[in-house]
Amino acid sequence: MSDEPTNTSEKLVELAKRRGYFFQSAGAYGGVGGFYTFGPQGAALKGNLEDAWRERYAVGEGHMEIDAPTIMPEPVFEASGHLEGFDDMLIECPDCGQSHRADHLVEDNTEYEDAESLPIPEVEEIVAEYELVCPSCGAGLAGVAVENFNLMFATNIGPGDSQPGYMRPETAQGIFVEFPRLKEYARNQLPFGVTQIGRAYRNEISPRRSIIRTREFTQAELELFLDPEEDEPDLSAVADVAVTLYPASEQQADDGTTVETTIGEAVDDGTIADPWIGYFLGISQEWYESVGVDMDRFRFRQHLSGERAHYASDCWDAESEIDGNWIEIAGFAHRGNYDLSKHQAHSDERFTIFKQYDEPKTVERATVDPDMSYLGPEFGGDAGTVVEKLEELAERDRAAFDGDTVEIDLEGETHEIPVERCGFSVDEETIAGEHIVPNVVEPSFGVDRLVYTVLHHAYREDEVDGEERTYLELDPEVAPTFVGVFPLQSDDDLEREAQAIAAELRAEGLSVTYDDSGNIGRRYRRQDEVGTPFCVTVDYESLDDEAVTVRERDSTAQKRLPIDELPETLAALRAGDLAFDDLE
Ligand code: GAP
Repeated sequence: MSDEPTNTSEKLVELAKRRGYFFQSAGAYGGVGGFYTFGPQGAALKGNLEDAWRERYAVGEGHMEIDAPTIMPEPVFEASGHLEGFDDMLIECPDCGQSHRADHLVEDNTEYEDAESLPIPEVEEIVAEYELVCPSCGAGLAGVAVENFNLMFATNIGPGDSQPGYMRPETAQGIFVEFPRLKEYARNQLPFGVTQIGRAYRNEISPRRSIIRTREFTQAELELFLDPEEDEPDLSAVADVAVTLYPASEQQADDGTTVETTIGEAVDDGTIADPWIGYFLGISQEWYESVGVDMDRFRFRQHLSGERAHYASDCWDAESEIDGNWIEIAGFAHRGNYDLSKHQAHSDERFTIFKQYDEPKTVERATVDPDMSYLGPEFGGDAGTVVEKLEELAERDRAAFDGDTVEIDLEGETHEIPVERCGFSVDEETIAGEHIVPNVVEPSFGVDRLVYTVLHHAYREDEVDGEERTYLELDPEVAPTFVGVFPLQSDDDLEREAQAIAAELRAEGLSVTYDDSGNIGRRYRRQDEVGTPFCVTVDYESLDDEAVTVRERDSTAQKRLPIDELPETLAALRAGDLAFDDLE
């Protein structure tokens, strides 16, 4: 059998390793699944995409950016629900010991499309009914138990009686836990947004498809804190943005299909229930296009109800098409007040914002002022807890004080307290506002999957001068290298001039590579393969006429330009203020 790559993904992974985009880490020690290193080209492309994201979602929206630790103590994840519920379904082959995701096995080998949302017993039944086998060794898996496997990497913080900690599975928790301080920076005004670009860690059962599913990856997340009763997005900014949507209803229908619409229409007719989600889908459609995602291979898909994360009330994914498969590259979730309420309940801090009313309001407030000379002897050291319980009961259910006694529960035992000893009263009070727990809308982007998508969608093959050529049609603003500078031949004068030009272009802020090895055709091919949009060649004529040849990557067309105009012209080409075709 031939080892030749058969599809674009295989060709891309080979090119990525050969040219320094990305490769499996720690190869010298046999490598380990799910960890990748971005080489010089990949790190530059990833950095450019992160800068473009920051420019749009933090600077462009007027939000703050923070940089939180990647390890956090256990109570954070007890509160967030990750310790309890951040699981995938694990099935282990009894013959070869390989672990697999049971839901992926089912989805890959049966007609079930959303196995993640099924209960474990049902997944076990499907594995048995379809006689599914281990993808590694072919052994039958019928009757093998499926278990929940928590995806967080555990660690210990400090020596000795160390504290348990976890590598964060999403950057978001680093923002939520700091809410009490962040709201001060936002002057206690809603709405405000906080962004973070950083690493997240998930001990994936079966990492696969190179950087698409890894165990350490980069997320770019925005947490928008808002008052659901007051704050609305400026939908006029995105109302006309055309999008391809795949709503849950269409996914469930027999002949369901994607819907071509605009953000304005989709919010109006309820396809997108939440206007904030609509707003972020709109700006993201435009942003993805600006960094080079092919919009004919892009859609937004709504989560089915069983598929949503434990914190989400509605969620849409941005998906890109890769060799016929759709992969999730971002999620847009309405997290309600889930996270802030949980952290408020589990910590000693206030995760609320004081919402001032336009006019002060008069409200009735039920309070207690218990008779401690009765509670003290009656309850001893528990008297304080009894007072708290009475206060809480008065606030929650004032009718409980209608009779002669009220009941409270203390360590599983019910106690009756005479109402006359509770000092219960209902008084009118004028209040200026209230403490509310804000809602959160979250666009969450996977940077590694974006790198993969941008490369895959930019991959081209054609023929130049009778020779096959591979090139990456990367957007000039994100390409790792913007211009290659070459002396035509190995010659001191040409090399000196080319080095001087390279230095001048770098001073202009352009990313430049200097290359004097091999014949000029090979040097062009090398730059085409890493997606460098332009190459500049210094030849013998340049020494006389002070001009160089500029070659465009996609068309391979060449033009002669004066050296002194080069920095300005190339900067304009990069910014999109000038087209190569328009050059004299
Ligand atoms: N804070 C929300 C959150 O983490 P998510 O859908 O689990 O939501 C967001 O993750 C994005 O992170 C995904 O859309 C995907 O692009 C990326 N991502 C998730 N798991 C990944 C993995 N194992 N490898 C690479 N990227 C991943």
